[in-house]
Amino acid sequence: GWKKERILAEYPDGRIIMVLPEDPKYALKKVDEIREMVDNDLGFQQAPLMCYSRTKTLLFISNDKKVVGCLIAEHIQWGYRVIEEKLPVIRSEEEKVRFERQKAWCCSTLPEPAICGISRIWVFSMMRRKKIASRMIECLRSNFIYGSYLSKEEIAFSDPTPDGKLFATQYCGT
Ligand code: COA
Repeated sequence: GWKKERILAEYPDGRIIMVLPEDPKYALKKVDEIREMVDNDLGFQQAPLMCYSRTKTLLFISNDKKVVGCLIAEHIQWGYRVIEEKLPVIRSEEEKVRFERQKAWCCSTLPEPAICGISRIWVFSMMRRKKIASRMIECLRSNFIYGSYLSKEEIAFSDPTPDGKLFATQYCGT
């Protein structure tokens, strides 16, 4: 509920705001607190160094004023595609998810041009599967570069968690 918020989208269940490095200190401090909490949840021991001056942070704020989603994006030049592996014969969707969660994955060593790197994406556990992450990415795509809408090919995810990989696979349709 900051006086000046950069609102990117409003929905019946909340709104998405964007925080930029040049924003007031109180906003950046809040973003830092949220990032620390997200990093703990993602199991990052020590936050990898990021070039904060170029990051864009999107927050999904619920109607009861809680931060239920966070996405941190940065400018990148290259992405490395996750190598597709043939699934064994799997009958149910449940089995597929279980398989995807267990297995390790590899990525190509061949760099491919990309523009936007999603360094963190996180949704509060009780609010997952309500398209909060999908809506944050949609907003990111239309607001990362002024006047342009990023294609899915121009976005890359940092080393994904099993949840992140399942989400990205579905979102990107790859
Ligand atoms: N298992 C299987 N499919 C999943 C999934 C999961 N855990 N999470 C998302 N998907 C797929 C589904 O197809 C889903 O559509 P559906 O619910 O209609 O089936 C679709 O992606 C869209 O999901 P959405 O509701 O937009 O995602 P979300 O708001 O639940 O957020 C994460 C997804 C990954 C951000 C969330 O699970 C999370 O915060 N996880 C913990 C942090 C984390 O691992 N972050 C990823 C770092 S790379």
